[in-house]
Amino acid sequence: MSGVIITRCTDAAQFDAILALVHETFGALVPPSGALSETVDDVATRFEAGPILLAHHGEDLVGSLYCAPKGDGLYLTRMAVRPSRQKQGIGRTLLAAAEGEARGLGIAKLTLRVRLNLPDNRAYFERAGFIVTGQGQDPGRPPYESMKRKLAIA
Ligand SMILES: CC(C)(COP(=O)(O)OP(=O)(O)OC[C@H]1O[C@@H](n2cnc3c(N)ncnc32)[C@H](O)[C@@H]1OP(=O)(O)O)[C@@H](O)C(=O)NCCC(=O)NCCS
Repeated sequence: MSGVIITRCTDAAQFDAILALVHETFGALVPPSGALSETVDDVATRFEAGPILLAHHGEDLVGSLYCAPKGDGLYLTRMAVRPSRQKQGIGRTLLAAAEGEARGLGIAKLTLRVRLNLPDNRAYFERAGFIVTGQGQDPGRPPYESMKRKLAIA
């Protein structure tokens, strides 16, 4: 999307803004997401695990995506585009940046989970080239499908 710049989070001073974005974005989901109970400490934990990608339009933080090497893939979580800025290509731009992160790490696969009760998300990631690889459910949480997208690594 034109005018949107993707960077890596480099500074704990950005954590509050990231958390606010995630809360706003996931607060719009029905039923409510576990993301709403996350705190700035959870953002710090994600930051330690791998890059947090940020999408800015000017000074405005409009998107974020947590990335972490996990197994033989780069695991993507809490992908968030501010509700007022959705369907403008920011999500695709974040995914392309995650692909670049994976390639830079020599990782040949992007992985993620989508909740079964949010079928639009599954369709969105299928259109972005992901395929379903399985299902699961953590205690007290809604069931999910695991998805992956293989990358060609030179
Ligand atoms: C899922 C999510 C991250 C997608 O982000 P997004 O920025 O809206 O996604 P994009 O704009 O890249 O793509 C959405 C659609 O808009 C379309 N689009 C892209 N640019 C567009 C434009 N300029 N004008 C109109 N439509 C456009 C895309 O083609 C895409 O269509 P498709 O779904 O039919 O392929 C976002 O909806 C979100 O934050 N949802 C809530 C949180 C969530 O569920 N996260 C995922 C957890 S697994």
